[in-house]
Amino acid sequence: MSTYTESKLPKVTTARLREMKQRGEKIACLTAYDYTTARLVDEAGLDFILVGDSASNVMAGNTTTLPITLDEMIIYARSVAKAVKRAIVVVDLPFGSYQGNSKEALASAIRVMKEAGAEAIKIEGGEEIRESVERIISAGIPVCGHLGLTPQSINKFGTYGVRAREEAEAAKLLNDARMLDSLGCFAIVLEKIPSELAERVAKEVSCPVIGIGAGSGVDGQILVVQDMLGMNTDFKPKFLRRYAELGDVIRESLGRYVADVKAVDFPNASEQY
Ligand code: KIV
Repeated sequence: MSTYTESKLPKVTTARLREMKQRGEKIACLTAYDYTTARLVDEAGLDFILVGDSASNVMAGNTTTLPITLDEMIIYARSVAKAVKRAIVVVDLPFGSYQGNSKEALASAIRVMKEAGAEAIKIEGGEEIRESVERIISAGIPVCGHLGLTPQSINKFGTYGVRAREEAEAAKLLNDARMLDSLGCFAIVLEKIPSELAERVAKEVSCPVIGIGAGSGVDGQILVVQDMLGMNTDFKPKFLRRYAELGDVIRESLGRYVADVKAVDFPNASEQY
């Protein structure tokens, strides 16, 4: 069976993502944080690979995305960029690397592009980060926005619940999305908001809207790769569909390895020199 990369589908660029939206082709996105997984994700035909700051949770074991540093993000992102041939590689600017001012935001974005080999950055927030978005885009760096549940603001929200159910928050989100689109963001991620609102945003803005827990009326979907492969079995939000139970497969395989080593069944005669 030939993979997407073997079939030489064209490299995904920001322009190609926009064309996909225009012709109604949905955009398939996943996260990745390491070389081996990123290669599999790319070969499977994903369009957009995000080195998310969710690495703080799923790779570094933190309870929030706040502790991960720019240096750590660059290490994860460099491994992913080396593996990916077709998808666009987008890297999150972590908490504390852009909120200070737009000069700091640009410096962080430049580090991610130069040191990790990223093709674009993602940044959380709306009106509050307008100047940073403008400055980064004017330096030639594609920017993906992120609205709705923005996990870097968990201490402000106090919960990972659905955002923008109230009219005022929904109106702000819509204005923020219009603003990010007009500044030239190449995409906007909408996380955990009512599907009706997400669909409205996708209809109003010209850039692709990628949803996670935002329903089917948007231009693409993103999930965290460990979650959709069933490696984080204690994380069960309503929006998550599990495509495999790799946690079970890994546990069972590791158990057999332990048993084989203890029983001196591994290595056997053909597995040694
Ligand atoms: O960090 C991340 O994985 C994300 C996705 C959930 C969109 O921002």
